[in-house]
Amino acid sequence: MKTMGMFDDMLKQGESLFKDAVALDYDYIPKLVPFRETQQRFVAESIKPLFSQRNGKNMLIHGPPGIGKTVAVRHLLKELEEKTDEIVPIYVNCWQKNTTFKILMEICDQLGYKFTHNKKTDDLFKIIEDYLNKDSVVFVFDEVDKLEDEDFLYMILEKIYRKTILLITNYQEWLVNLDERIRSRLTPELLEFKKYNGNEIKGILKQRLNYAFVDGALQDDAFNEIAKKTIEMSDIRQGLYMLKEAGNIAESKSSKSICLEHATEAIKKLEEFTIKKTDDLETEERVILNIVKTNPGKKIGELFEIYQSNGGVGVYKTFQRKIKKLADNRFLHVKKVTGGKDGTTTIVNTPQSTKLTDF
Ligand SMILES: Nc1ncnc2c1ncn2[C@@H]1O[C@H](COP(=O)(O)OP(=O)(O)OP(=O)(O)O)[C@@H](O)[C@H]1O
Ligand SMILES: [Mg+2]
Repeated sequence: MKTMGMFDDMLKQGESLFKDAVALDYDYIPKLVPFRETQQRFVAESIKPLFSQRNGKNMLIHGPPGIGKTVAVRHLLKELEEKTDEIVPIYVNCWQKNTTFKILMEICDQLGYKFTHNKKTDDLFKIIEDYLNKDSVVFVFDEVDKLEDEDFLYMILEKIYRKTILLITNYQEWLVNLDERIRSRLTPELLEFKKYNGNEIKGILKQRLNYAFVDGALQDDAFNEIAKKTIEMSDIRQGLYMLKEAGNIAESKSSKSICLEHATEAIKKLEEFTIKKTDDLETEERVILNIVKTNPGKKIGELFEIYQSNGGVGVYKTFQRKIKKLADNRFLHVKKVTGGKDGTTTIVNTPQSTKLTDF
């Protein structure tokens, strides 16, 4: 006879409050992107000439974090992909791929070209050029303010005949500092995304939670509390985080629904940190964060060596503590691994690089 075990609760499946937790992921693309139709139509206009084999228009899309810039554009690309084979959509996140070489490698990868080994920037671009000049292309470069160089833009502007280039950033000023030769060839139209109002935020969160939770799982007062906090922050990403967290908290307490107390706890958790605001970090933490960004997936000991060789003077314990703080605030992702010659160690990643490998 089996006795009550540690995992019995966890095995009671089908009782989850979540129907499809993935629907709360930041990079999930919902079927509809409400309240962004005007912006999508504007972007579609810039692509329109490509349908008649003419060159498209370029655009700089800007606005604060978490207000649907990425999702509106990706949603449009998806539709484009379903409608036509003659326009190739390319999407690159420049936070993850922040140099010309990395971006060209990524484009080759998206085009299904595999023989990139040992190839230099110029060789890669020649391949891309030959490939893409048979068709028309929509390039989306997201988070462009994170780029270390912009040479690839010059190459595309000069050598790809029929294209629309969409650039997305939080900072409109990014354009001002762009190399004059690129700027004068790019001449982008500007499209500003403004913050959502309260009703829009509520509508968007409602839509996402209907995908994510089983019917009736989230109580009204819990929803209202999370919506209120999201409206205060004007950032849908934070709202999605709180919804997911409230769901997890309710489940961990084996609650049959998500109540106000679970929402309040999720809000408290959110208030303890900010997502994506490196300005708040002290210099030392920013240095460490940069080391991890340029050396993702390394062991904490290895990172400490790099830190020291870069002139870092803190001791290992302090270094560990700072890594932990960065991870708690979700600037970093840490994973404990056991076994191997080092016994237990911690692997440190940026949230982006873990996201890539998670799929
Ligand atoms: N109108 C909307 N409908 C459905 N989901 C939305 C909408 N607007 C934003 N979201 C969701 O909110 C989250 C943040 O949106 P998105 O990633 O597009 O932000 P962003 O404006 O690109 O922000 P950042 O500048 O930080 O990259 C995503 O998960 C996105 O799916
Ligand atoms: Mg974005």
